[in-house]
Amino acid sequence: MQLPTPVLRPPFNITRASHVVLTAADLTASRRFYEQVIGLVLTAEADGTLYYRGIEEACHHSLVLHQAGGAPACRRIGLRMLGDEDLEVAFASFRQQGCAPAWVEVPFQGRTLHVTDPVGTPLEFCARMPVAPRQITNFASHRGGCAQRIDHCQILVPQVPRALDFYSAMGFRLSEYIATDDDQLRGVFLQRKGNPHDIVFFHGAGPRLHHTAFFTPEAQHLLKACDVAGSLGYGRTVERGPGRHGPGHAMFVYFRDPDGHRIELFNTHYQAIDIENEPVRWDVKDPNVSFPWGLPAQRRWFEEATAFEGVAIKEAEPKPKPMTLERFLADQAERK
Ligand SMILES: [Fe+2]
Repeated sequence: MQLPTPVLRPPFNITRASHVVLTAADLTASRRFYEQVIGLVLTAEADGTLYYRGIEEACHHSLVLHQAGGAPACRRIGLRMLGDEDLEVAFASFRQQGCAPAWVEVPFQGRTLHVTDPVGTPLEFCARMPVAPRQITNFASHRGGCAQRIDHCQILVPQVPRALDFYSAMGFRLSEYIATDDDQLRGVFLQRKGNPHDIVFFHGAGPRLHHTAFFTPEAQHLLKACDVAGSLGYGRTVERGPGRHGPGHAMFVYFRDPDGHRIELFNTHYQAIDIENEPVRWDVKDPNVSFPWGLPAQRRWFEEATAFEGVAIKEAEPKPKPMTLERFLADQAERK
């Protein structure tokens, strides 16, 4: 398989996944979920918007929730650049590629650049935010899953190779990927910050936001988040796990927030920095990709995702046929 050659010195410096911007129908319900179950820290509430950060994060926000009616949506995926000069260089590059770059004013962010990537994902780049004290040693304030920082987003798209080419040209490095026997890409894990991923693309109807992931240090925090969810009446929002990933190897648990947006908490990631690190290939048929032990995810985990506001969704060809919990149990019953 011909994978893109890594661009080790890209013309502008994207540093990491930064934030996501979601809509929420009821901010009171969102506050209860994100503060008590996930354990995020509220930095500000202004003009019908909640701004959250993880307990180790100093930058103003990694999750933005805008109160809005209608179907739940994701408005933007935020990525950080190192400096304002990187934004300037990126603007010219995006214009040349037909990504409709536009300078916009966004509260609590420095100069901000809006761009749509070639697979339809609405992106938002900035290099600066106000800072607030890190809460990492304020142990008495830690709650629920103690989410420390945003780590990555996963997006479903029908054109995974196109996403891979675009992000690789911007300096993202491929840490792991999932492919069929005939070299069709089904998932790509792309990173800038030196661990397995900042942005992930999987084959599926899209573009749609599959999940946003926050890092938490210990497996016990995953269980604590589940226990808190159960005791607050959110038990059915625990959609998948706790379990262990194949790619990335982390332990995880997935929740659905009060609007149905999917949030992952996970622990541990390995470093992926050195020049000789080659992408790890996974066979799409290998059950260890999805569930090294235990049971596979429910069908809804594979099929349901958050639409990007105002962005048309295209079907994927071929239609994904994952090993769902429903299929797994039916296969088991048939064998008896
Ligand atoms: Fe994830």
